[in-house]
Amino acid sequence: MSRLDHATAWEALKSHYTEVRDLHMRDLFAADPERFRRFSLSVGDLMLDYSKNRITEETRNLLVTLAEERGVPEMRAAMFSGAPINSTEHRAVLHVALRNRAGRVIEVDGEDVTPLVNAELAKVRAFAEKVRDGSWTGATGKPVRDVVNIGIGGSDLGPAMVTQALKPYGKSGLKVHFVSNVDASHLVETLKGLDPETTLFLVASKTFTTQETLTNATTARQWLTAALGEAAVANHFAAMSTNAEAVGAFGIDTANMFRFWDWVGGRYSLWSAIGLPIAIAIGPDNFDALLAGAEDMDRHFHEAPLAENMPVILALLGVWYTNFFGSGAHAVLPYDQYLARLPAYLQQADMESNGKTTCRDGKPALWATGPVLFGEPGTNGQHSFYQLLHQGSHLIPCDFIAPAQSHNPRGDHHAILLANVLAQGEALMRGKTAAEAEAELEAASLPASQVEALVPHKVFPGNRPSNTLIMPRLTPRTLGMLIALYEHKIFVQGVIWGINSFDQWGVELGKQLAKRILPALKDDASPAAGHDASTAGLIAAVKALRAG
Ligand code: F6P
Repeated sequence: MSRLDHATAWEALKSHYTEVRDLHMRDLFAADPERFRRFSLSVGDLMLDYSKNRITEETRNLLVTLAEERGVPEMRAAMFSGAPINSTEHRAVLHVALRNRAGRVIEVDGEDVTPLVNAELAKVRAFAEKVRDGSWTGATGKPVRDVVNIGIGGSDLGPAMVTQALKPYGKSGLKVHFVSNVDASHLVETLKGLDPETTLFLVASKTFTTQETLTNATTARQWLTAALGEAAVANHFAAMSTNAEAVGAFGIDTANMFRFWDWVGGRYSLWSAIGLPIAIAIGPDNFDALLAGAEDMDRHFHEAPLAENMPVILALLGVWYTNFFGSGAHAVLPYDQYLARLPAYLQQADMESNGKTTCRDGKPALWATGPVLFGEPGTNGQHSFYQLLHQGSHLIPCDFIAPAQSHNPRGDHHAILLANVLAQGEALMRGKTAAEAEAELEAASLPASQVEALVPHKVFPGNRPSNTLIMPRLTPRTLGMLIALYEHKIFVQGVIWGINSFDQWGVELGKQLAKRILPALKDDASPAAGHDASTAGLIAAVKALRAG
């Protein structure tokens, strides 16, 4: 595979960019009443309108050619077939096998993984049912009322986001909590008011070596055994991991362990046993519907032509803005309170996957890669950072996500919410000209001097791109589609940029250094040993404050 900047389509896009960069979307819409139809597509219940982008049909054609030239179809086929496309870790990348409800044969090292997946899913289902119907009891015979998932990163964000998103499908009398931060306050505040007799801990860690998770799990274990004794651990602790040995060594009976495999990336693992807290919270049938939604998107991604392929289109638009317009950020703006954690989840999914500058061939990427991703649920963001989206100096493409129906219809709430999301996309696209601003101010009978002074402040440049994703309702199935959509978008972008989206070496250095700093904070080890003056000074200062 040649370098991205040597691709023929890359060169063609560079010169195409100079032709289209000054086109205003307002004019593109005025010139083409069919623009919405031309630049929108649906997969099942999910509709994407991408007409509010700074593209023409020629842009789309060139971007699709770039995807072809970069080998997206071949890499997609390799991923679905179980080839070891995680090249630095020599692993397959098979989150798609976790929702392969059609039962396709998918082999890793000559073994069909589908029966393994189905057997583990059956265990997850059975355990979730037992917890939900009260037949799984604590050491004193009481049913579980609170489940505390202890994990971090991919072992927390996916299940936490989905459990919150699907709260309307929850069961009364059964609460699922998530503890991730090693700051004891997270655990302590979560355990306040919980009864050890009716609390079940799920320790979620792919590696079962993660410092934060093991520290939290140890403290949780102490909390439990202080009340109920050592023997209670068997009824109150279960684990989800790939590392049975470490689970056993920690003192959790491996009969209470749900396994997954090294071909499931942490940030792609919510579909595996890591989804156990989801299955407990919303029930196994709804968990199954979540998998079915993801499978719908997998099928579409696998089979649809690139130009009509939703994840591919989203990925290509991201490449267009990142690499040609020089945009370094991307906003995800769900207009649904239940999706409040979606931006946090996608921060890991996207930034841990594509926040890299070394290509698969070991050479540096001489082009920009993954953007900074951020977001807040609407309408909160409107009263916060949208000012910058509309009038700031950065071009920040936005994804608006909106279910048309609310789980909580009350008065005009939902109509107001929807009016706002649609207005934001329109405002970003249209902007407001100086003439329009002037006319408005004059209509408000302002004196001419004030009109003149205010006009420059009231102008909106517009021409700011956004995608809008709508669905009838946020359900397990539509949520599954939505998450898989972003997973595949991230994959396609990684292929185009030439990076391996499935390792995360960039998180290692901080972990290593923290291990060296810890002894200096805890005992008499010299704060200066092996550290720069700033870090040594901070260690000494923190140590003194801790002592004082
Ligand atoms: O932050 C690095 C990381 O390895 C993530 O990729 C992962 O999701 C998280 O830590 C937790 O890892 P584990 O599930 O092994 O505890």
